[in-house]
Amino acid sequence: MESQLDWHSAKALLDWQLEMGADEAILDAPVDRYALPEASKPAPKQPIAHPQKAQARSAVEEINPVEEARQIAKGAQSLAALEQGLAGFDKCDLRLGARNLVFCDGHSEAPVMIIGEAPGRDEDLQGKPFVGRAGHLLDKMLKAIALSRCAQDPSEAVYITNVLPWRPPQNRDPSVEEIDMMRPFLMRHIELAAPQVIVLMGNIACQAVLQQRGIRRLRGQFQKWQDIPVLPMYHPAYLLRNPLAKRDAWHDLLLLRQKMGEM
Ligand code: URA
Repeated sequence: MESQLDWHSAKALLDWQLEMGADEAILDAPVDRYALPEASKPAPKQPIAHPQKAQARSAVEEINPVEEARQIAKGAQSLAALEQGLAGFDKCDLRLGARNLVFCDGHSEAPVMIIGEAPGRDEDLQGKPFVGRAGHLLDKMLKAIALSRCAQDPSEAVYITNVLPWRPPQNRDPSVEEIDMMRPFLMRHIELAAPQVIVLMGNIACQAVLQQRGIRRLRGQFQKWQDIPVLPMYHPAYLLRNPLAKRDAWHDLLLLRQKMGEM
Protein backbone atom coordinates (compact mmCIF):
# COMPACT_ATOMS: atom_id res chain seq x y z
CA MET A 1 0.00 0.00 0.00
CA GLU A 2 1.35 3.39 -0.91
CA SER A 3 1.96 5.68 2.05
CA GLN A 4 -0.24 8.80 2.27
CA LEU A 5 2.39 10.58 4.37
CA ASP A 6 4.43 13.37 2.86
CA TRP A 7 8.12 13.64 3.73
CA HIS A 8 7.63 16.31 6.42
CA SER A 9 4.84 14.43 8.21
CA ALA A 10 6.86 11.19 8.17
CA LYS A 11 9.90 13.06 9.57
CA ALA A 12 7.75 14.69 12.26
CA LEU A 13 6.44 11.27 13.29
CA LEU A 14 9.96 9.85 13.48
CA ASP A 15 11.12 12.85 15.54
CA TRP A 16 8.19 12.32 17.87
CA GLN A 17 9.18 8.67 18.36
CA LEU A 18 12.76 9.76 19.12
CA GLU A 19 11.50 12.27 21.66
CA MET A 20 9.46 9.54 23.32
CA GLY A 21 12.67 7.55 23.67
CA ALA A 22 12.21 5.01 20.86
CA ASP A 23 15.77 5.59 19.67
CA GLU A 24 17.06 2.04 19.35
CA ALA A 25 16.19 -1.05 17.34
CA ILE A 26 15.41 -3.93 19.67
CA LEU A 27 16.05 -6.64 17.09
CA ASP A 28 18.73 -6.69 14.41
CA ALA A 29 16.13 -6.63 11.61
CA PRO A 30 12.52 -5.38 11.42
CA VAL A 31 9.75 -7.97 11.84
CA ASP A 32 6.71 -7.83 9.56
CA ARG A 33 4.11 -9.10 12.00
CA TYR A 34 1.38 -9.24 9.31
CA ALA A 35 3.49 -11.80 7.47
CA LEU A 36 4.00 -14.12 10.47
CA PRO A 37 2.35 -17.55 10.16
CA GLU A 38 -0.70 -18.04 12.40
CA ALA A 39 1.17 -20.56 14.58
CA SER A 40 3.70 -18.00 15.74
CA LYS A 41 1.07 -15.48 16.87
CA PRO A 42 0.22 -15.53 20.58
CA ALA A 43 -2.59 -17.99 21.34
CA PRO A 44 -5.79 -16.54 22.86
CA LYS A 45 -5.95 -17.03 26.62
CA GLN A 46 -7.79 -20.22 27.61
CA PRO A 47 -9.90 -20.39 30.76
CA ILE A 48 -8.26 -22.59 33.45
CA ALA A 49 -10.05 -25.90 33.45
CA HIS A 50 -8.50 -27.52 36.57
CA PRO A 51 -9.07 -25.84 39.92
CA GLN A 52 -6.16 -27.79 41.56
CA LYS A 53 -3.76 -26.62 38.88
CA ALA A 54 -5.01 -23.07 39.35
CA GLN A 55 -4.41 -23.36 43.08
CA ALA A 56 -0.87 -24.66 42.58
CA ARG A 57 -0.14 -21.84 40.16
CA SER A 58 -1.42 -19.13 42.47
CA ALA A 59 0.76 -20.53 45.29
CA VAL A 60 3.82 -20.14 43.04
CA GLU A 61 2.73 -16.68 41.93
CA GLU A 62 2.28 -15.60 45.52
CA ILE A 63 6.00 -15.79 46.33
CA ASN A 64 6.71 -12.25 47.39
CA PRO A 65 9.45 -10.78 45.19
CA VAL A 66 10.60 -8.37 47.91
CA GLU A 67 10.98 -11.26 50.34
CA GLU A 68 12.90 -13.22 47.71
CA ALA A 69 15.17 -10.23 47.10
CA ARG A 70 15.72 -9.94 50.86
CA GLN A 71 16.71 -13.61 51.15
CA ILE A 72 19.15 -13.47 48.25
CA ALA A 73 20.69 -10.21 49.42
CA LYS A 74 21.02 -11.42 53.01
CA GLY A 75 22.80 -14.55 51.83
CA ALA A 76 25.47 -12.61 49.94
CA GLN A 77 28.70 -12.45 51.94
CA SER A 78 30.74 -10.42 49.46
CA LEU A 79 30.19 -7.81 46.76
CA ALA A 80 30.90 -10.43 44.09
CA ALA A 81 28.28 -12.74 45.62
CA LEU A 82 25.79 -9.88 45.73
CA GLU A 83 26.35 -9.14 42.05
CA GLN A 84 25.83 -12.81 41.27
CA GLY A 85 22.66 -12.85 43.36
CA LEU A 86 21.36 -9.85 41.44
CA ALA A 87 22.17 -11.48 38.14
CA GLY A 88 20.08 -14.49 39.15
CA PHE A 89 17.13 -12.47 40.45
CA ASP A 90 14.38 -12.75 37.85
CA LYS A 91 11.43 -10.98 39.48
CA CYS A 92 12.18 -7.49 38.19
CA ASP A 93 11.04 -7.10 34.59
CA LEU A 94 13.49 -4.27 33.94
CA ARG A 95 16.15 -6.89 33.35
CA LEU A 96 14.29 -8.09 30.26
CA GLY A 97 14.81 -4.81 28.45
CA ALA A 98 18.40 -4.24 29.59
CA ARG A 99 21.57 -5.21 27.80
CA ASN A 100 23.71 -5.36 30.92
CA LEU A 101 23.49 -5.50 34.66
CA VAL A 102 25.12 -2.34 36.02
CA PHE A 103 26.54 -3.08 39.45
CA CYS A 104 29.33 -0.70 40.44
CA ASP A 105 32.42 1.25 39.52
CA GLY A 106 35.31 2.72 41.48
CA HIS A 107 37.12 1.40 44.55
CA SER A 108 35.12 -0.83 46.88
CA GLU A 109 37.24 0.29 49.86
CA ALA A 110 36.72 3.99 49.22
CA PRO A 111 35.35 6.02 52.13
CA VAL A 112 32.68 7.60 49.91
CA MET A 113 29.87 5.62 48.30
CA ILE A 114 27.85 7.46 45.65
CA ILE A 115 24.36 6.21 44.89
CA GLY A 116 22.60 7.29 41.69
CA GLU A 117 19.27 6.38 40.21
CA ALA A 118 19.47 3.85 37.41
CA PRO A 119 21.55 3.20 34.30
CA GLY A 120 20.80 5.19 31.18
CA ARG A 121 21.65 4.22 27.62
CA ASP A 122 25.44 4.57 27.91
CA GLU A 123 25.57 2.77 31.24
CA ASP A 124 23.41 -0.04 29.87
CA LEU A 125 25.76 -0.42 26.90
CA GLN A 126 28.96 -0.36 28.96
CA GLY A 127 27.72 -2.13 32.10
CA LYS A 128 29.08 0.67 34.35
CA PRO A 129 27.33 3.43 36.29
CA PHE A 130 27.63 7.11 35.38
CA VAL A 131 29.55 6.89 32.12
CA GLY A 132 27.35 9.20 30.02
CA ARG A 133 27.06 13.01 30.12
CA ALA A 134 25.90 13.06 33.74
CA GLY A 135 28.79 10.75 34.61
CA HIS A 136 31.32 13.08 33.01
CA LEU A 137 29.98 15.94 35.07
CA LEU A 138 30.12 13.76 38.18
CA ASP A 139 33.80 12.98 37.45
CA LYS A 140 34.53 16.73 37.14
CA MET A 141 32.73 17.46 40.39
CA LEU A 142 34.72 14.77 42.19
CA LYS A 143 37.97 16.00 40.70
CA ALA A 144 37.27 19.46 42.11
CA ILE A 145 37.52 17.97 45.61
CA ALA A 146 40.43 15.65 44.75
CA LEU A 147 38.41 12.44 44.44
CA SER A 148 38.23 10.01 41.54
CA ARG A 149 36.63 6.70 40.69
CA CYS A 150 39.96 5.64 39.13
CA ALA A 151 42.21 6.37 42.12
CA GLN A 152 44.28 3.40 43.35
CA ASP A 153 44.58 4.84 46.83
CA PRO A 154 41.21 4.21 48.50
CA SER A 155 41.44 7.46 50.48
CA GLU A 156 41.25 9.40 47.18
CA ALA A 157 38.69 7.13 45.57
CA VAL A 158 34.91 6.78 45.43
CA TYR A 159 32.68 3.77 44.99
CA ILE A 160 29.65 4.24 42.71
CA THR A 161 26.39 2.34 42.30
CA ASN A 162 22.71 2.93 41.50
CA VAL A 163 19.37 2.15 43.13
CA LEU A 164 18.45 0.00 40.13
CA PRO A 165 20.92 -2.19 38.27
CA TRP A 166 18.91 -2.30 35.02
CA ARG A 167 17.98 0.51 32.65
CA PRO A 168 14.29 1.45 32.79
CA PRO A 169 12.76 1.60 29.29
CA GLN A 170 13.21 5.01 27.68
CA ASN A 171 14.95 6.18 30.86
CA ARG A 172 11.62 6.61 32.62
CA ASP A 173 11.62 7.18 36.39
CA PRO A 174 11.77 3.94 38.37
CA SER A 175 8.39 3.04 39.90
CA VAL A 176 7.88 2.79 43.66
CA GLU A 177 7.38 -0.98 43.24
CA GLU A 178 10.70 -1.34 41.43
CA ILE A 179 12.52 0.68 44.09
CA ASP A 180 10.93 -1.37 46.89
CA MET A 181 11.77 -4.64 45.15
CA MET A 182 15.42 -3.75 44.64
CA ARG A 183 15.95 -1.97 47.97
CA PRO A 184 17.15 -5.12 49.85
CA PHE A 185 20.00 -5.46 47.32
CA LEU A 186 20.96 -1.80 47.75
CA MET A 187 20.91 -2.05 51.55
CA ARG A 188 23.13 -5.12 51.45
CA HIS A 189 25.38 -3.37 48.93
CA ILE A 190 25.91 -0.54 51.42
CA GLU A 191 26.56 -3.00 54.27
CA LEU A 192 29.14 -4.91 52.27
CA ALA A 193 30.92 -1.82 50.91
CA ALA A 194 30.81 -0.28 54.41
CA PRO A 195 31.53 3.33 53.36
CA GLN A 196 32.21 6.11 55.84
CA VAL A 197 29.95 8.56 53.97
CA ILE A 198 27.12 8.02 51.50
CA VAL A 199 26.21 10.57 48.83
CA LEU A 200 22.68 10.29 47.43
CA MET A 201 22.31 11.73 43.95
CA GLY A 202 18.74 13.02 43.49
CA ASN A 203 15.27 12.06 44.63
CA ILE A 204 15.21 8.39 43.66
CA ALA A 205 18.31 7.64 45.75
CA CYS A 206 16.81 9.62 48.66
CA GLN A 207 13.58 7.68 48.34
CA ALA A 208 15.41 4.33 48.29
CA VAL A 209 17.73 5.00 51.24
CA LEU A 210 15.97 7.61 53.40
CA GLN A 211 12.40 6.91 52.25
CA GLN A 212 12.06 10.65 51.66
CA ARG A 213 11.73 12.87 48.61
CA GLY A 214 12.19 16.60 48.12
CA ILE A 215 15.79 17.03 47.05
CA ARG A 216 15.64 20.84 47.22
CA ARG A 217 14.83 20.60 50.91
CA LEU A 218 17.07 17.58 51.64
CA ARG A 219 20.26 18.58 49.82
CA GLY A 220 23.21 19.96 51.66
CA GLN A 221 22.33 18.51 55.06
CA PHE A 222 23.76 15.35 56.54
CA GLN A 223 21.39 12.63 57.74
CA LYS A 224 22.17 9.11 58.92
CA TRP A 225 21.59 5.65 57.57
CA GLN A 226 22.49 3.11 60.25
CA ASP A 227 25.05 5.48 61.77
CA ILE A 228 26.64 6.29 58.41
CA PRO A 229 26.47 10.01 57.47
CA VAL A 230 24.39 10.49 54.33
CA LEU A 231 24.53 13.60 52.15
CA PRO A 232 21.75 14.19 49.58
CA MET A 233 22.87 16.24 46.57
CA TYR A 234 21.39 17.32 43.26
CA HIS A 235 21.74 14.65 40.58
CA PRO A 236 24.35 15.61 37.92
CA ALA A 237 21.68 15.21 35.20
CA TYR A 238 19.64 17.89 37.00
CA LEU A 239 22.73 20.11 37.10
CA LEU A 240 23.15 19.71 33.35
CA ARG A 241 19.61 20.99 32.87
CA ASN A 242 19.86 23.65 35.59
CA PRO A 243 23.38 25.11 35.59
CA LEU A 244 22.42 27.71 38.21
CA ALA A 245 22.06 24.88 40.73
CA LYS A 246 25.81 24.14 40.38
CA ARG A 247 26.42 26.75 43.04
CA ASP A 248 24.51 24.64 45.58
CA ALA A 249 26.28 21.52 44.33
CA TRP A 250 29.65 23.17 44.96
CA HIS A 251 28.55 24.01 48.50
CA ASP A 252 27.58 20.35 49.02
CA LEU A 253 30.87 19.07 47.62
CA LEU A 254 32.74 21.26 50.09
CA LEU A 255 30.57 19.86 52.89
CA LEU A 256 31.52 16.37 51.78
CA ARG A 257 35.22 17.24 51.75
CA GLN A 258 34.91 18.80 55.19
CA LYS A 259 33.19 15.68 56.55
CA MET A 260 35.97 13.50 55.13
CA GLY A 261 38.53 15.71 56.90
CA GLU A 262 36.76 15.05 60.19
CA MET A 263 36.87 11.28 59.84
N1 URA B 1 22.14 8.50 36.11
C1 URA B 1 22.18 7.72 37.21
O1 URA B 1 21.52 7.98 38.19
N2 URA B 1 23.00 6.66 37.18
C2 URA B 1 23.75 6.35 36.14
O2 URA B 1 24.46 5.36 36.21
C3 URA B 1 23.68 7.18 35.01
C4 URA B 1 22.88 8.25 35.01
